[in-house]
Amino acid sequence: MKNEAVEKILITKEEIEKRIDELASKINRDYEGKEVLCVGILKGSVIFLADIVRKLDVTVSMDFMIVSSYGESTETSGQLNIKKDLSTDIKGKHVLIIEDIIDSGITLSKLVEILKEREPASVEICALLNKPERRLAHVDAKYIGFEIPNEFIIGYGLDYAEKYRELPYVGVLKREIYE
Ligand code: PRP
Repeated sequence: MKNEAVEKILITKEEIEKRIDELASKINRDYEGKEVLCVGILKGSVIFLADIVRKLDVTVSMDFMIVSSYGESTETSGQLNIKKDLSTDIKGKHVLIIEDIIDSGITLSKLVEILKEREPASVEICALLNKPERRLAHVDAKYIGFEIPNEFIIGYGLDYAEKYRELPYVGVLKREIYE
């Protein structure tokens, strides 16, 4: 059933489930025999992270960060504001960043730089959604669920004013809600 704030459903619950199975199979193959530290970027990633880790059969641990980027600037001098850092030392570990969406790419491009300085064995990105039209900073994401158009989307972790994260699908928000 569609929420009254939703204009249309862009990606159904079933499509998300199927794609998560595919991504998890790829991750299981790529990390066979290794341990993966899944790093969820709060809050948008929680639903995706919770679903995908339960499909992994490699050894998994989890940690979380809260970050925000200062404006839409691609300046390499620009800083990422770390509001909550990892509670784990990632040196020598295989880090898999789990995100709900890559939009401008600024958050992830800077985050990857910061995490690489901590000398992990590897850093990869797994993002459910990608909005390539909005890209300002280059991001190499190994695992991507869906490429989506530049629309205001909510659900499956994504919010508008902190609401609608719990919707089990990805939907387009009605214009009248945010205009
Ligand atoms: C969203 C999303 C990413 C970031 C992507 O988080 O979860 O972290 O924005 O944007 P970018 O590619 O333009 O940098 P948001 O700051 O909305 O916080 P939330 O996850 O708590 O909703």
